[in-house]
Amino acid sequence: MKRFSFETTTHSAEETRAFGERLGRHITAGTTIALSGDLGSGKTVFVQGIARGLHVPAEYYITSPTFTLINEYPGRLRLHHIDLYRIEDPIEIEEIGVYEILGSDGVAVIEWAERLGAELPAQRICVHLEMPNDHARHMRITAAGSAAVAMLKNAVNIQ
Ligand SMILES: Nc1ncnc2c1ncn2[C@@H]1O[C@H](COP(=O)(O)OP(=O)(O)O)[C@@H](O)[C@H]1O
Ligand SMILES: [Mg+2]
Repeated sequence: MKRFSFETTTHSAEETRAFGERLGRHITAGTTIALSGDLGSGKTVFVQGIARGLHVPAEYYITSPTFTLINEYPGRLRLHHIDLYRIEDPIEIEEIGVYEILGSDGVAVIEWAERLGAELPAQRICVHLEMPNDHARHMRITAAGSAAVAMLKNAVNIQ
């Protein structure tokens, strides 16, 4: 499968949002974006940027759906923001409807996506965030599959 990776470091939450927005502008229907990284690494901030890029109206303030597990927002494409942090048993992933979302033509953005294991779609964009210090966040974005590779290359202006 085609793959492409890109790495960058941001120095503020707004810079992370701006990067998420660039990706969000290029996302196409049915895309899965898997986010991983420790608590506080900026996953939710990144999703706020993706929402801007998908033209989710600004009156929706995006927070981690830690208790609700899934939040949905209207936009250029429907945004499903999923957080698997509180999942204790894999059966819950099925019960809350994650697989229906992954098969839909919206966009699924998943915090703690590694909890999906082998159920994570093979064609996807993975974003791994690390915290070198209080203000810096290092991001490694990997696209798998030709559509995802094209999206990421468009977002970072590499042809
Ligand atoms: N460069 C940066 N990018 C993103 N967030 C940052 C950055 N520097 C500091 N922060 C702060 O880190 C926190 C990230 O929180 P959040 O996005 O909720 O993390 P997560 O969802 O991964 O648990 C926020 O309080 C944000 O202001
Ligand atoms: Mg979060």
